[in-house]
Amino acid sequence: MDTWILSALPEAPARVLDAGCGDGELAGALIAHGHDVTAIDLDPSAALAAGVPAKRADLTRYEDDPFDVIVLSLSLHHMHPLEAALDRAAALLRPDGLLVVDEFAWDWADEAAATWFYDAGTLLGRFDRPEPDPMIRWREAHVDHSPARDMLEAIAARFEIRRTRRVPYLFRYLGGEHAARLKEIEEVRHAPTGFRLTAVTRVTGGADGT
Ligand SMILES: C[S@@+](CC[C@H](N)C(=O)[O-])C[C@H]1O[C@@H](n2cnc3c(N)ncnc32)[C@H](O)[C@@H]1O
Repeated sequence: MDTWILSALPEAPARVLDAGCGDGELAGALIAHGHDVTAIDLDPSAALAAGVPAKRADLTRYEDDPFDVIVLSLSLHHMHPLEAALDRAAALLRPDGLLVVDEFAWDWADEAAATWFYDAGTLLGRFDRPEPDPMIRWREAHVDHSPARDMLEAIAARFEIRRTRRVPYLFRYLGGEHAARLKEIEEVRHAPTGFRLTAVTRVTGGADGT
């Protein structure tokens, strides 16, 4: 597991919401570092099977006491409606709390990146055969995923973004034992297809609270 999220967090113990926790690996690491973690997912079975306490919940409708930190790790692009997920995140974060987002930006991949992704994946046995039209398949595969353009706009409308970093992502998508070498190639050949950001609740200025 990449440790940047752990390093982005305030000192433990912080009250952390891991929304869309998946298999619970990150939530487990945050707990091990002394944080008070609430892990939620539409389907928490993988996290529970791994021994991580997780609740079945949908962020777009989730109610709870305020959190110091909300982590969205590769989950926001799956959440619909995107705006409702971020409205809830803004409501659940305490006024000086921190939003931490680690995301896939599929819309930043061009034809060369999609071709490399499917060719490398075919070589690694992830795909059965070479893809004749990588860009068409890429777009079809991600049609249900929010593009980075929409995520960044929706985050900026609700939070003050402190730091954004564009990072390679395809090597994580391909995974496996060659991930480190794939990352090196991706960094040399392709523009980033992921981003990492931290943000704080937007301070509203007007006397009427707007
Ligand atoms: C690609 S997985 C990411 C898992 C994990 N956070 C990670 O970094 O590997 C996305 C997860 O988000 C969950 N998810 C999607 N929409 C959600 C929602 N509205 N509320 C809570 N979880 C959601 C999915 O069930 C899935 O487990």
